[in-house]
Amino acid sequence: MDNIKVLIDEEKLQKRVKELAKEIEKDYKDKEINLICILKGSIFFTCDLAKNINKNVKIDFLRLASYEGENSSKVKLVANLLPNIENKDVIIIEDIIDTGKTLNYLVPYLKKEKPKSIKVCTLLDKPSRRVVSFKADYTGFEIEDKFVIGYGLDFDQDYRNLPFIGYIEK
Ligand code: IMP
Ligand code: MG
Repeated sequence: MDNIKVLIDEEKLQKRVKELAKEIEKDYKDKEINLICILKGSIFFTCDLAKNINKNVKIDFLRLASYEGENSSKVKLVANLLPNIENKDVIIIEDIIDTGKTLNYLVPYLKKEKPKSIKVCTLLDKPSRRVVSFKADYTGFEIEDKFVIGYGLDFDQDYRNLPFIGYIEK
């Protein structure tokens, strides 16, 4: 059996998600909130965030995949389930920012659709791993350079349903 250690427990996680929700609620007091959940990793985070925002939100999805190219990894869009976002205030909900490649691809891609505003909310950030610079507008936790699992994050598609953020001790 894998030896799973807890990095951020459920209580700490839920407390921080509530804080982020309140921040967003305040910043978007006079705006419509359009959450864009990046599948699959952000699913739990998006749901808990949305439930804690005390005003109406719309939720849409897209799925990205990164694949290994000749000597660097590339990001591609594998499913775009978004409605027209022109003139909308959108918030991208990401599970974790690691190298920064995913968001450096996605943000310019979505800007072409001419949203009124676009912000990024990430649950986790590993700034020490950045290959291309990227700064989120809302960040739950900055973490050290560890491969984490749980609360949507997977290792080979497993462990997503852990209610906490953990890591596997070798
Ligand atoms: P980036 O493009 O390197 O910033 O990576 C972003 C994506 O890589 C995330 O959306 C995750 O799907 C995946 N990822 C990065 N670090 C981890 C991790 O520690 N655990 C699980 N997935 C991760
Ligand atoms: Mg992801």
